[in-house]
Amino acid sequence: MAIYDTLGATYGRTRQPDPRIAAQVHAALGDAATVINVGAGTGSYEPRQTVLAVEPSQIMIDQRPRGSAPAVCAVAEHLPLRDDAADAVMALLTVHHWTDLAAGIAELRRVARRRIVILTWDQEIFRERFWLVREYLPQAAAFDDSRAVPIDRLAALLGGAEQEPVHVPHDCTDGFGAAYWRRPHAYLDPQVRAGISMFAQTGEDALAPGLAALTDDLATGHWHRRQSDLLALDTIDVGYRLLVADV
Ligand SMILES: C[S@@+](CC[C@H](N)C(=O)[O-])C[C@H]1O[C@@H](n2cnc3c(N)ncnc32)[C@H](O)[C@@H]1O
Repeated sequence: MAIYDTLGATYGRTRQPDPRIAAQVHAALGDAATVINVGAGTGSYEPRQTVLAVEPSQIMIDQRPRGSAPAVCAVAEHLPLRDDAADAVMALLTVHHWTDLAAGIAELRRVARRRIVILTWDQEIFRERFWLVREYLPQAAAFDDSRAVPIDRLAALLGGAEQEPVHVPHDCTDGFGAAYWRRPHAYLDPQVRAGISMFAQTGEDALAPGLAALTDDLATGHWHRRQSDLLALDTIDVGYRLLVADV
C-alpha cells in the first residue's frame, strides 16, 4: 500500500499550492511545452502544460482537481513511459519518500528530454534554522535525518544541477513542514500536523512533550519574546531548495 494512502486523506485541506512558490517552479521549468509531474500528489504546482501526473497513492489521485492532467498510478523508480516523453519532468517534495533514489532519478533522466526540476530541502540547514525542530521537536528532526536526501547526492545523480533557495512566505498557503514558521499556534492543530509527513511519521507520542512545551511558551509569551526577530520577517530561508538540471 502506498504510504500516502494512509498519510494523504486530508492533504488537500492543508496543502494548497502557494502562488509565490508556483511562480518560482514555473520559471524553473522554462519554456518546456510538455511537463510530467512525478510524485504528483494532488497536483500542486502543475503548470497548464502538464501532460501527465505519476503518483502511487490512489487517495492522492482522487483529490486532484477536476480538469487536471491525467494521472497514472505508478512510482518514480519504474516510470511507465517511453524515453524522452516530455520536455521537462518535475518532482516536488517527493524524493525523500522514494525507496530507491538512484533508480528514480535515472528514470527522470530517461524520460525528460531537456530539463528536470526537483524541490527538496537541505536537512542540515533545516534542523539548524527552523526553531520548531531545533527547540521543541528534535525527534522530528531525527526522523528527517534518516530520510532527507543530501543535496550533493541529488545533484550528483542528476549529473549536475543549479540550486535555488526557496524562501517560505510568512503566510504560505502550502502547509508543508516549515510553512507556519511565523504562525506557531498552527503546529498545535492535529490536522496541520497530519498534512506534514515529518510529524505524521514521527508519531504523536514522540511529539507530545515538545508540543506541550510549545503550548506553554505560547501561553506565557516566552515564544514571542524569544523569537521576536522572526516576527519582523516576511520570508525565511530554512533550507528548501529547487534543483534545476538540464539533461
Ligand atoms: C509531500 S507529497 C508531495 C506531492 C506534490 N508533489 C506536492 O508538491 O504537493 C509526496 C508525494 O510523493 C508520493 N510518493 C511516495 N513514494 C513515491 C515514489 N516511490 N514514487 C513517486 N511518488 C512517490 C506520495 O504518494 C505523495 O503523493
